[in-house]
Amino acid sequence: MTHPVILSHFQTRSFLKAREDGKLCIKGSQDLGLTSVAVSIKPEGARFTNNELLPWNAIEKISQTENNCFIVERGEARKIQLYSDITNRLYSLMPTHKAPTMLVSGILMHRIKGTDPYSDTLEKLKTVKPLIGHVLDTATGLGYTAIESSKTASHVITIELDPSAQEIARLNPWSQLLFDNPKITQRLGDSYDLIEEFEDHTFTRIIHDPPTLSLAGHLYAVEFYAELYRVLRQKGRLFHYIGNPESRSVRKITKGVIDRLRGVGFSRVTRHPNAFGVVAFK
Ligand SMILES: C[S@@+](CC[C@H](N)C(=O)[O-])C[C@H]1O[C@@H](n2cnc3c(N)ncnc32)[C@H](O)[C@@H]1O
Repeated sequence: MTHPVILSHFQTRSFLKAREDGKLCIKGSQDLGLTSVAVSIKPEGARFTNNELLPWNAIEKISQTENNCFIVERGEARKIQLYSDITNRLYSLMPTHKAPTMLVSGILMHRIKGTDPYSDTLEKLKTVKPLIGHVLDTATGLGYTAIESSKTASHVITIELDPSAQEIARLNPWSQLLFDNPKITQRLGDSYDLIEEFEDHTFTRIIHDPPTLSLAGHLYAVEFYAELYRVLRQKGRLFHYIGNPESRSVRKITKGVIDRLRGVGFSRVTRHPNAFGVVAFK
């Protein structure tokens, strides 16, 4: 199946410029900057490689929208956002100059200030390199941690609570390997519950990249940490994202996280301020 055209203002502004300059065709992107293709500049709109034609008024609307990505279907552009009845949260895809991020009820799921979602992901994973063996990713989101881990690990299990978040990832061109890579197994459900299904000592690495404490307090609880410890192999490593270490509230939360991780048996629990989290060993 060909992927639909997905656009943000980062792409459409160059279409407007091309029209202004009287160009008939430009090298542009129809997948949020992941790849470039020939986009035809027609009097009535921009035409993409799948033959979709998007009228200029829709292109102008996208160009004025900073916080949303759009899917182009049957000549119309629709915001990529979904309201979930399961969690009562609104999920949307927000563009950046590189890979997009996801907003969950207005809260960013990756760092974008002075960085971008993909560099943020690489910074997190760097803390537990080499990423080998069986990896558990407790919070799929857009799947960047799972996709990157799968490049060196033998297998990755990634868990997402909300089918709406998974739907957003499905529309994101930068998330496609999540669906195409046989080394990645996706599970839908609450990590807090699903972790009980795994045998002791299953994983060599765990990436725990939960939403903020206010959205998922139970993923910061001692009972969950005890399960993380149980399913981790001897000498295995855990990365736990927490948040900006310069924030006073995050510093307080970090102290609690470190105490609880040590309490359930983790050793060498150290802060990794560049990755906004901590690393712990078994
Ligand atoms: C910070 S994002 C993860 C970003 C992800 N690591 C990536 O690479 O894009 C957090 C994700 O966890 C999901 N989530 C929230 N609570 C969860 C839970 N209890 N179990 C599993 N996933 C959860 C959210 O829906 C959201 O998609």
